[in-house]
Amino acid sequence: MLTDTHCHLDDEQFQDDLNAVIDRAKAVDIGFILDPGVNAETSRRAIEISETYEIVYAAVGYHPSDCVDFDAARHIPMIRQWAEHPKVLAIGEIGLDYYYDDGAPRDVQKRVFETQVGLAGELGLPIIVHDRDAHGDALAIVKANLNQEASGVFHCYGGSVEMTRELLDMGLYLGFDGPLTFKNARKAPDVVAYAPADRLLIETDSPYMAPVPLRGRRNESSYIVHIAAKMAEYKNISVDDMIRITTENANRLFRFDTACAS
Ligand code: NI
Repeated sequence: MLTDTHCHLDDEQFQDDLNAVIDRAKAVDIGFILDPGVNAETSRRAIEISETYEIVYAAVGYHPSDCVDFDAARHIPMIRQWAEHPKVLAIGEIGLDYYYDDGAPRDVQKRVFETQVGLAGELGLPIIVHDRDAHGDALAIVKANLNQEASGVFHCYGGSVEMTRELLDMGLYLGFDGPLTFKNARKAPDVVAYAPADRLLIETDSPYMAPVPLRGRRNESSYIVHIAAKMAEYKNISVDDMIRITTENANRLFRFDTACAS
């Protein structure tokens, strides 16, 4: 059984054919899809989708691109309430994004990220971290605010081997997506080879970043087989083993087998 631990089924690009997308995911033996919200509206929508499809679960939170709309007094109680839902398994997608010059102010991004990392620890839920061109600050915030028993994943991971060592020491997981299959993938192949297999996750980040040979299309969960195959190649193990291990990892982190599936 495969898992897609990062897939934005709530995106409007899936509005018209969600049933077919889920059917194709099941057809390649995907048994677990985690849909992380990026703000209040998409978090709510992710929960709704999880209520409709058995294999779909949700994460809730405020993404750095939406963090200027985050109002602690309003949204912290909201996240707490969503977290009580049996199919909400994580806080995310949260983090820092320094890629865009006209993005949200960095001090706002940091404050909203810190708040949600702390909240996840309190709620006993793992975090799903988006870190784009913000490695130093993202690492520092997680280090300072993540409760010892809490865990999480750096999704679409792009850090160095040195940073990887620090994340592994904290018990965190590394998620890899379509870019792992790109010819110009730089650090990711080395990091995959370096990290223990039991800390790797495969994800699509659909509808974005479709893997080779489907690059340029709308991405969807069923394409994850290409990412699994590439990861297995870099890890020098069979694709079947890679799939089995990443699914065990996803379950260890997100505990979907004990979550209520109704
Ligand atoms: Ni995402």
